Formats: sequence, structure tokens, C-alpha cells
Amino acid sequence: MKANELRKAFLDFFESKQHNIVASAPMVVKNDPTLMFTNAGMNQFKDYFLGNSVPKSTRVTDSQKCLRVSGKHNDLEEVGHDTYHHTMFEMLGNWSFGDYFKQEAIDWAWEFLVDELGIDKERLYASVFEGSDDDGLKLDTEAQDLWLKYLPGNRVLNGSKKDNFWEMGDTGPCGPCSEVHVDIRSDEDRAKISGASLVNQDHPLVIEIWNLVFIQYNRKANGQLEALPNKHVDTGMGFERLAMVTQGKQSNYDTDVFQPLLQKIAALSEKKYGQNEQNDIAMRVIADHLRAVSFSIADGQLPSNNKAGYVIRRILRRAVRYAYTFLGANEPFIHLLVPTLVESMGNAFPELAKQQDIISKVILEEEQSFLRTLANGIKILDNIIAETKKAGKKNVSGDKSFVLYDTFGFPADLTDLILRENGLEFDHNGFTAEMAKQKERSRAVGSLQTDDWVVLEEAEAGEFTGYDQTEDEIKILRYRKISVKKKEMYQLVFSKTPFYAESGGQVGDTGYIEANGEKTTITDTKKENKLTVHFCTKLPSKPEATFKAVVNVQNRMDTENNHSATHLLHHALRNVLGTHVEQKGSYVDSERLRFDFSHFQKLTDEEIAEVEKSVNAQIRKNHTISEKRAVAMSEAEAMGAIAFFGEKYGDKVRVVKFGDSVELCGGTHVAATGQIGMFKITSEAAIASGIRRIEAITATKSEAYVNEFVEQAKEIKSLLKSSGSPIKAIRKLIEAHDVLNKQLGVFRKEKAAMLAQTLMHSAKEINGIQVICAKVVAQDAGEVKELAYKLGKMANNMFVVLGADLAGKANLTVLISEQLVANKGLNAGAIIREIAKEIQGGGGGQAFVAQAGGKKPEGIQNALDKAYKLINTHPVS
Ligand code: SER
Repeated sequence: MKANELRKAFLDFFESKQHNIVASAPMVVKNDPTLMFTNAGMNQFKDYFLGNSVPKSTRVTDSQKCLRVSGKHNDLEEVGHDTYHHTMFEMLGNWSFGDYFKQEAIDWAWEFLVDELGIDKERLYASVFEGSDDDGLKLDTEAQDLWLKYLPGNRVLNGSKKDNFWEMGDTGPCGPCSEVHVDIRSDEDRAKISGASLVNQDHPLVIEIWNLVFIQYNRKANGQLEALPNKHVDTGMGFERLAMVTQGKQSNYDTDVFQPLLQKIAALSEKKYGQNEQNDIAMRVIADHLRAVSFSIADGQLPSNNKAGYVIRRILRRAVRYAYTFLGANEPFIHLLVPTLVESMGNAFPELAKQQDIISKVILEEEQSFLRTLANGIKILDNIIAETKKAGKKNVSGDKSFVLYDTFGFPADLTDLILRENGLEFDHNGFTAEMAKQKERSRAVGSLQTDDWVVLEEAEAGEFTGYDQTEDEIKILRYRKISVKKKEMYQLVFSKTPFYAESGGQVGDTGYIEANGEKTTITDTKKENKLTVHFCTKLPSKPEATFKAVVNVQNRMDTENNHSATHLLHHALRNVLGTHVEQKGSYVDSERLRFDFSHFQKLTDEEIAEVEKSVNAQIRKNHTISEKRAVAMSEAEAMGAIAFFGEKYGDKVRVVKFGDSVELCGGTHVAATGQIGMFKITSEAAIASGIRRIEAITATKSEAYVNEFVEQAKEIKSLLKSSGSPIKAIRKLIEAHDVLNKQLGVFRKEKAAMLAQTLMHSAKEINGIQVICAKVVAQDAGEVKELAYKLGKMANNMFVVLGADLAGKANLTVLISEQLVANKGLNAGAIIREIAKEIQGGGGGQAFVAQAGGKKPEGIQNALDKAYKLINTHPVS
């Protein structure tokens, strides 16, 4: 069965069991402070398990794009070296939210694997949770009995808390799990060693394919478990592993999920897959990482220097580095694999196909820049190697390799390899210690600790009322203490809220809540999945009171001006530049707006002017907002709204319309565009290949910006004392300046020639040498040197020492004719070192000419006298 058919077979099977098929959530997570990437199918359903919101359907199924490269689940280092771990993979899942439990989960898992797919049941094993004294939990006999209906006792194995108790994080919903393992070794090998002894032993052919989690507890911050009111099922099956099993292969990479990519890599690198282990690892790394990076870019996460972007950059760099070292790829080529990926996965994941160009371009640019980094790193490493060898050492200290890794992005394993090639050692312990220090530093900076919620009222958090009002009467339903970067704060959840929680690029509202004359400042409002949490530094003295919640209206209005302006800007960009323009990100606060979009060239000044003009025209039309709060996606699309990749939309969406601009948007907006006042673009630049960023301001900020220019123009006019156009006056000024400069140059030359003549006349002949030791007036050291050269050309027996006070700094210049250097043993460098002591300075040069600077201009005359004395007493030869 082809992989694409397998995915469909899974979804169809669970649909036949009354499950709703849902789309994969974006792989890049927004609105969850604990996660950067989706690392399990259940992430998008967290709120249902936590009881923060009620699911529309109690049974769902999907194939979820997951990325396990950071935090609790990180498989990065295994990828490529084995045949069954991946950074990005698809997790097939079926869920019950308070609906069916262990029996159906196990029965259906068996039915799908054995009856639907025809997997040989003799090769299957199931594990059940053996219990844990720490948690006071016993063996999961319920799951055990259910499996014993299908499997003999020696193939139902007990598993430890590590393998058979699944937890979402340090706290939160969790429960025992049952894993299904499959043994795909040859009959001969199976006869020799029982598969049971290889389960969970990292054997590449005895592997876990499906994890059935029975969520029934909540882990509290103090480590204790409490029973959840509802029991849930969360299952996750590795799609690529299942493809391997059903396609009769022994490596995920031999399935049609990866083979097209591997064949393409082989063709481009002119190496065959399957002939050399080291090359094979590199090819697997590249094929795997290409998928992870392409899907992330498709979901809107570009490689960058921080957070999720940095993780993506590192994955791509790992692929480039393997290609460089093992496949000899000195030129970018990974971007050339994108069409192959799109061909095999573009149907199931249209976001890939639609954004193929951007994905290729971004990858190409990253490849180019990292190949440059590698070349630079090799240069630095060459120096380190030379120094180490010169010092007669064998070992390069860990801190040096770490700087190379951390500051220059140079891979540590490449450093290790190159050092070994040079007969030197890589200091693993030192490097690991530096890495640990670094981790500790970032942990201390970014650590977030949360206490358990203190529940005041058991109720579902209410709606956002802030589209219509900026004040409301609320109750606090629950609160908890958190500590961010060692600073204590509180998070509050309200019964309903007028505060907008940061999302869709718009910052969260600030303001206060008030009861019994006591005001508590709300410093920020954010989303945790679907929950709106309000931040404050001090808890109200009576949290159970009824509060008046008041949003900071000025802040909100300034932010709304900017948010509505991004809609008009998006629309204008599509009109002026073309409909290839798509929003790639935005940030809106009370000060400014930032809008990222796909476009391949820098905007010309004319285009920027055109965009500004178009936005301002829409502002002046004073379009009133037309808003539809809960329409079906199909209806929104019919209205002209465009869904963005990487955004997760609910069943019902909100549509915001100003004139011809129609957007899907949950943010808050102006009542009519006239409020925006004036729109002004302050910058336009590239942030990645094919992605540009516009920064702009509105309303009073635009007014202040323009006024500043007006003030400057006024000041310029008054400085120019011109009543007409200041531009004309400035042009004239520049022309006059150029003429004067030219004249000044001529005068300077003439003056220098005269000065040279005068000095020549003053020269004293000592032992056949023309000696000039004089103080001169000059602009800079270059002018003094020029004068010395001029004198040097006047005769072939010149000994010239010039001193000058250059704006409070002493300068000495010595020039000696070549003939004297050769015949009389004179050396300008040696003389300057000696006489520069008088000006508290130092310098040097060659035997013919040397210069020195010093702090003490008062010493110039002494230096000249000293030079004169030196030549006077120089032995005659
Ligand atoms: N949450 C479980 C896992 O990720 C099953 O989906 O393994």
C-alpha cells in the first residue's frame, strides 16, 4: 500500500467508527508558552483534556505533522544514524474526549492493524503499565485483560513508568499507556531470539508503532496525581514506521515516503544510496531535515537567530554540514530537493505545493550563508591548529571549539573530524562543560515555573467581550503564581474579559481591575492555547470579589489604528505589486506596525509611494468596519478572505472588512478607517530570501514623524537664510563648496612648494649631508610626509626631520636619502624611535622614512635638537 493510501486508510477506518476527521494543526505552535513546535498529535487538543474548553465532537482522528527537536522530546541526534527516528514525522491519531476508553481503543487498534492492514499478528507485541510505587499506581490489568483477548500472555509485556506512563509535560493530563510493537526481523532471526526480549531495546527491527494513552490523571505542581473528572484516549502512531511495516521494508527510508528524496540526493551528489554507511547516513539526514525545514517554512517559521527560527536554522545547517563533509557538496543543492518533496506530499499538504518557490528560495539562501560560515570556520580552525602545533600541544581546549561552535555556528563534530585529520585531539570534556554552562545560562534567563491553579469558581472561562466594550464586570475564576526569569507574577482567568489576549500579531491589552476601591494593574494579556490569562504582579486582596475590568483605552486605540492599517496595507500591496503578495507575519502594538510578506524584489521608491498613497486614500474614504463574527470558512472564502498557512482556524471564523479589504482576523479594529489619520512607511527591507518587511506608523505617530521633517526643513531654511526653496540653496552651497575646495587644493600645493624651497635654503651642510631639522605647520601626518618626500627629491644627500603639532598631538617625520642609508649607516626607523621619546610617543618605519605620533607637542623642539645632535656627532665615514 502506498503511503498516501495508508494515511487515507487510517482516517477512513476511524471515520467509520464515528470519528470526525480534522486537519493537522500547524507544526509551529502559537499561543502555548510551553511549546515551540507540535511534538504530539494531542497538542492541539490540550484544552479539551485540561477542561478549558468543550470539544465539538468527542471522537476525532487526524494525521498530525510533528517535530521532535527540542524540549522533552528531542530525537535530533539519532536522525540519520538509525533508520526509524525523524525530526519531522506524521502521527496518526484517534481521540476520545470523555467518550470511549480502553476497550474500544484496544479493539480498534487490533482491528485496524490486523484485519484492515493484514499485519501478521504473530509479529505483534503489546505493553501495559506495570504500576509505580511512587505514584501509588498498580499494574494496568484492565488493558492487560483486553490485550489477552488477542495475544498470548508471553506477548503482553509489562512496561515501566518511563515507557508506559505518558505525560504531556511536568504537569498536566497524563495516564498509563499501552504500546504496540512489531517485530519485522526474518523468520530465522525470530526463531533464534524471541522478539519479547528486544521490545524497547532500541532494536531497529523490533519497534514501537502505536502508543495508546489512557488519560485519566492530572499531575499537579507538587508531583501528585489527581483523578480527572473525564477519561480520555489519545493515540499516536508513527506513520513512516507503519509504512515501513506494511510495505515490507526494514527501514523507514526504504519506503515511498523517503525513496524519491534519496534517489534525487543520490543523483545530485553522484553517489549511490546503500553502498557506503557514512554516505547513507548523510543522505538520510538530508532527506529527513529537508522535510522538517520545508514544512516549518510552509507553516510560516523562517530560519532565524532566535527561538523556533533558530531551531530550524540548526536543523538545516546539520543537513548542509553532512552534505558538505560526506557528499562533498561545496555548492548549495538541498533546495533542489523541494520539488521532489512537493511531488510526493503536496497533495496531502497543499501548503507545501502553494509555497514551493518561497521554500526553495529560503533554503537556498540559508545554504549559501552557511557554506560561507563553514569556509570562515575552517580558516579560524586552521589558525587554531597552527598555534596548537607551534606550542607543541596535542589537545585543542574545549573553550576554543565552543567559541567556534557558539559564536561562528561551526559544527562541533566537524571540528572534531578536522582536528583528528591533523593529528590533534578534540577536548570533549571541556566542550561539554562549556555547553553545560551555556545551557545553565539560558535556563536561568528563560525559566518559567508555574504553581497549580487556585480555583475560585468551577466554570468555563467566558467569552471575549472586548470587540464591543473596553470595560466589563468580571469574576476571577482561578489564579496561579508563576515565576518568569526569577520574577514572581500572577496569572488570572476571568469569567469573561474585555482584555484582548496577544494573538494574530496584535499585542495583549493592559489596564486594571478594580474592587472595593483597590486597583490591580493588568500588565499583559496572553493566550495559553484557548485560555485567556491576565498578568499582574500583585494579587488583589479579595480575589473572590466582583471586579470592574478596565482596558487602557488609549493604548488599545493606538494599537487598533496600526492593526487596521495592516489590513489596508496588505490590500494595497496586492494591488500595487500583484496577488503573489501574501502575509507572512505581522506585529502590531501602540507604537508601530510591522508587516512581512512574500515578494521577490526590493520595493522601488515609486512603489512605496504608491502603496502609501493607496492606504491613505482608503483611510480618507472612512470605511466603517463590517464584521462577521462566526461564519463558516467556506462563506468567509466566498467573501474574498484568504486563509494563511500556519494559522489554525476554528470551525467558525471572523471576517473583518474595510472597503475592498477582506481578512480573516480575530483582532480588534477601528470603527472607521478615518481614525487611522495618516499612514507612513518608515522602512522596507528583506528579512529572508523572497520575504520583505514593511514598518509603518499611523495617527499621532505619523503626525509627529512628518512634523519633525517640517521642523528640520524650517531650521535648514533659517540657517540658509533663504526665503525660496532650501533645495536650490543647498545645491548652490554644495557647488560653491566644491569650487572652494579645488582652489584650496591648488593653494596648498603652492604653499608646500614654497615651504620646501624655504626649508631647503635653511639646510645646513654637515659632513657632506644636507640637514633640515624644522618645525612645520600642517593639517595632518600625510601632509608632513608629503613635504618630507618633496625635500628628499631635491638632493640625494638629504637628512630631513620635521615636527608638527597636529591639533594637540605631536608628529615627527624622518626622511633620509637612500644614498646616505646605504653609505653612512643611517636609519630613519632607529632615529625616530630615539627622538620620539621626547614627545612621549612611538612609531617606526623603514630605513628611508619613518613617522611617530606622541602625546607631548611641547617636546617637538627637543626631538628636533636631539636629531640635529645625532647627525652632528654621527661618525664621518
Ligand atoms: N501522546 C502520545 C504520544 O505522543 C500518543 O499520541 O506518544
